[in-house]
Amino acid sequence: MALLKVENLTKCYGETIALKDASFKITRGEFVSVIGPSGSGKTTLIRCINRLIEPTDGDIIFDGKNMVYLKGSGLRHARAKIGMIFQHYNLVYRLTVLENVLHGRLGYKSNIQGICSLYTQAEKEKAIEVLDLLRLKDHTYKRCDQLSGGQKQRVGIARALVQNPKIILCDEPISSLDPGSAKVIMDYLKKINKELNITMLVNLHQIDVAKKYSSRILGFNKGSVLFDGAAEDLTQERIYQIYGAEAGELIND
Ligand SMILES: Nc1ncnc2c1ncn2[C@@H]1O[C@H](COP(=O)(O)OP(=O)(O)O)[C@@H](O)[C@H]1O
Ligand SMILES: [Mg+2]
Repeated sequence: MALLKVENLTKCYGETIALKDASFKITRGEFVSVIGPSGSGKTTLIRCINRLIEPTDGDIIFDGKNMVYLKGSGLRHARAKIGMIFQHYNLVYRLTVLENVLHGRLGYKSNIQGICSLYTQAEKEKAIEVLDLLRLKDHTYKRCDQLSGGQKQRVGIARALVQNPKIILCDEPISSLDPGSAKVIMDYLKKINKELNITMLVNLHQIDVAKKYSSRILGFNKGSVLFDGAAEDLTQERIYQIYGAEAGELIND
């Protein structure tokens, strides 16, 4: 059974059609990259899946439940199983690394527990364990504004992992990083996918990176799925279709 099934998903912002009848399935354990030019709907897709924004039409079946119809605690429970990683990390910089990682547990708490930062010993131990996995243990009590970009993104990954997610959705996780840090982050995402069997859906700008790391690639253009297949089947011709002929020269460079 598919872990995630997106069916005829459409999202309009007023006159703009950001997603148009997009359909695909993701099986547990897959590493799927989403590529496509700016404005093709990659961010909108990720945000619709966990209902950060409301889809206009279509269905999103995640782990057997239709996200589109979930509300209140049902939606909270479903979201807790979906980790999110962002281009600009979305950390609270005046707080410590540990505090930011523990924020990943908020989806499991009542509002009052959350406001009072009431975390169990087991949650703190899990956070430290995950920080160790990401080689951040020495930075546990540092403020996040003292970290490098690559370290900040590792905190973002740690925060997603303490959720015990079934899937992690990454929106351009390496677009703000230098090539060395980008490779470290992609290697961690791959390791987490392989060793912890967490399914990955990753929006990427870099076609070569998508080809190297993914078991499958989705190519979006103007909100529609133009390509859905293995990395080796993403030919130059397919890339032109996804990015448009005017991008051809750039792609060849
Ligand atoms: N909040 C918004 N309000 C209006 N239009 C938006 C909004 N967010 C995105 N769009 C539009 O939706 C389309 C898809 O955007 P987006 O999902 O950000 O694409 P991508 O992540 O692939 O660059 C673009 O035309 C963009 O301008
Ligand atoms: Mg985007």
